[in-house]
Amino acid sequence: MENEFVQVSNLHRNFGEGDASQSVLLGVSLSINKGETIALLGRSGSGKSTLLNVISGIDQADTGVVVVDGIDLTALSEHERTLFRRRHIGFIYQFFNLIPTLTASENVALVLELNGYTPTQTREKTDHLIRAVGLENQKNKLPDQMSGGEQQRVAIARALVHSPKLVLADELTGNLDAESGQKILTLLQQLMVESGGTLFLVTHSLAVAKTADRILTLEDGLLIEREGHFAW
Ligand SMILES: Nc1ncnc2c1ncn2[C@@H]1O[C@H](COP(=O)(O)OP(=O)(O)O)[C@@H](O)[C@H]1O
Ligand SMILES: [Mg+2]
Repeated sequence: MENEFVQVSNLHRNFGEGDASQSVLLGVSLSINKGETIALLGRSGSGKSTLLNVISGIDQADTGVVVVDGIDLTALSEHERTLFRRRHIGFIYQFFNLIPTLTASENVALVLELNGYTPTQTREKTDHLIRAVGLENQKNKLPDQMSGGEQQRVAIARALVHSPKLVLADELTGNLDAESGQKILTLLQQLMVESGGTLFLVTHSLAVAKTADRILTLEDGLLIEREGHFAW
């Protein structure tokens, strides 16, 4: 279908071998349209991060296919997958994952430098995103000089600065207090509306999931699409 931006077919992912073998994804299929916000809800250990990592190309499935914007990630070499991720995907982690020795601005600028933007383009785009997340006055601080909420704002700026069409967020509010978490979620959603990008939110919070266009749950290695209200 023309509008299908992400197509995941029959993913299987096992960890470990022999008695320690664990099947985490047991045939997961999914399609996401351009511009949609999808929430993936599931209990801790249900395989949410595993699925997100496979979709982003950080991890590889044992079998199955992941197509993003017409590119079959499972057919690429590791190097090609790294380049694809750097150019076309934004990733936001629960624990921010900022580089501790770089300032807020430098953390945001890095992906542009790696993608070969000129110093002027890098500065302009970085300044724009730093302003968009409200961190003009913190931009020269190191991560450990900022609060959790501020660090997650830097992480959002970093994830969006190269205008990726797909943004993946793994428990982005999971390590923040409720008020900062709500603000971060609203901020990300506003920026996604402006960019027209597709957002895949992993969360264990039903309140967060309810802000999405569609809710999926991951249970016993299978993905289930939820219609309307359901018990959780
Ligand atoms: N690299 C790995 N090696 C071995 N087991 C893993 C690895 N990554 C995840 N797992 C296991 O897979 C299961 C699902 O993990 P994860 O995807 O992180 O769940 P969630 O994000 O839903 O909490 C867990 O039991 C976890 O221990
Ligand atoms: Mg996880």
